[in-house]
Amino acid sequence: MNVQVVSRPLGEIRTDALVVGLPADTKGLPPRLAALDRRAGGQLKAVIDAEGFKAKVAQVTHLHTTGHPAGRLIVVGLGESKDGTLETVRRAAAAGVRRARDLAARTVAVDLLGDRLPARQRAQAVVEGALLATYTFDRYKREKNGKAVDTLRLVAPDGRLAREVGEGARRGETFARATAFARDLVNMPANDVHPTHLAKVAGEIARENRLRLRVLERAECQKMGMGAFLGVAAGSAQPPKFIHLSYTPPRARRRVAIIGKGITFDAGGLDLKTPDGMLRMKDDMSGAAAVLAVMRALPALGLPVEVHGLIAAAENMPSGTALRPGDVLRAMNGTTIEVGNTDAEGRLTLADALAYANTRIKPDEVIDVATLTGACVIALGPLCAGLFANDQALAGRLLSAAEEAGERVWQLPLFDEYRDNLKSEVADLNNVGPRGGGAITAGLFLKEFAGSTPWAHLDIAGPAFSEKDLPLAPKGGTGATVRTLLTYLSR
Ligand code: BES
Ligand code: ZN
Ligand code: ZN
Repeated sequence: MNVQVVSRPLGEIRTDALVVGLPADTKGLPPRLAALDRRAGGQLKAVIDAEGFKAKVAQVTHLHTTGHPAGRLIVVGLGESKDGTLETVRRAAAAGVRRARDLAARTVAVDLLGDRLPARQRAQAVVEGALLATYTFDRYKREKNGKAVDTLRLVAPDGRLAREVGEGARRGETFARATAFARDLVNMPANDVHPTHLAKVAGEIARENRLRLRVLERAECQKMGMGAFLGVAAGSAQPPKFIHLSYTPPRARRRVAIIGKGITFDAGGLDLKTPDGMLRMKDDMSGAAAVLAVMRALPALGLPVEVHGLIAAAENMPSGTALRPGDVLRAMNGTTIEVGNTDAEGRLTLADALAYANTRIKPDEVIDVATLTGACVIALGPLCAGLFANDQALAGRLLSAAEEAGERVWQLPLFDEYRDNLKSEVADLNNVGPRGGGAITAGLFLKEFAGSTPWAHLDIAGPAFSEKDLPLAPKGGTGATVRTLLTYLSR
């Protein structure tokens, strides 16, 4: 979808569909819509009245016009003005543009929705909503989705706002395209997305954006002592890849490492999952997809921050060479780990990635993103990521970035007392504890490898993949945390 900014009265925009917003608490039509309604011969007001349209957030109605420059007029509700947030704007734009698409419009103009917010942010939110909600994944289908919007025009109500609106729109495009890139990787099946594929994608990203890339093969990982990571990879015919992408702009003010869990398929290993539990496990590389998407978007944003993207990519499979329950692994930092359960593999791979970050990169802070535990889904449900951190300032900044990005993130505790649950009779640590508080135990396990570096962990087992259509995403991979991380790194 090609995104443009225009600035002229609503009634003069030639387009297949025009999307306008209606607050729930104004009497009659606001002035801009009243002018549009006059130009449309009162049809707009007539439809709103006839339907008893309430203008609840993202409620939609439409009409086909005759003799008007916009072939279809689409009205989206904005709810009560006092409750208006950027997320209201995203969801309203999403609902309006989705309706336009379903009505077979190819060119869509959207008014700059949401009155009381800064124009740049509103523009970003409109473009995000439009692009995120019309995402489709059909590359494996013979029959492609016929209906698609090809041009989105954002209407700046005032020519003087055009520059700000243009900047916001470009940022919205960058954020939404990065999210779509992550969704594609998650939606692709594990027979195509294996560790070698992730390394190849990292190579393309590096080439196109002039990032540095280092891919460590199994032998090199062995030399570096990444026994925990390699233990997970042992059962698969797919060779593991340790991926390190770096974005190093001149005059960077800080250095951040982001680590994505990159299990391209999680069968559970010898502690095999049930068929139901295994069905979705191509999504166990959603953290890696988010990290690749963020690294790919960074150059366009031109931020003065050095970012290192790390992925310990492997497939968790059962076989004659697989890791056994009871095996003891030695991680890169020397810690020995008894494998209580081969299905708790994510933390083993992240342990070595965290140790690598601390010794090879020495970042000011490190953030990992991982579909780590079913327990986190039990705790917070499918829409919300769990946040854990050894540094409250970092946690606070991430929470506020997530809020601005419109992604749900909730902090969970790392109680010291639960650390005992990870004790092993034979090694320094066990990789599993009791069932209760499983997301916390996993967080405590990772904390052991973060050392003294400020560290945060996002457990995205819930929000990485949706079983139903959402306001901003169709069923499938969601690209969770891409926008939160980009917002965070932009500050
Ligand atoms: N990849 C899973 C976590 C997961 C579960 C993600 C459901 C998305 C949806 C992870 O590797 C795993 O299997 N975790 C186990 C840990 C347990 C063995 C301690 C779990 O959550 O059951
Ligand atoms: Zn697992
Ligand atoms: Zn897993």
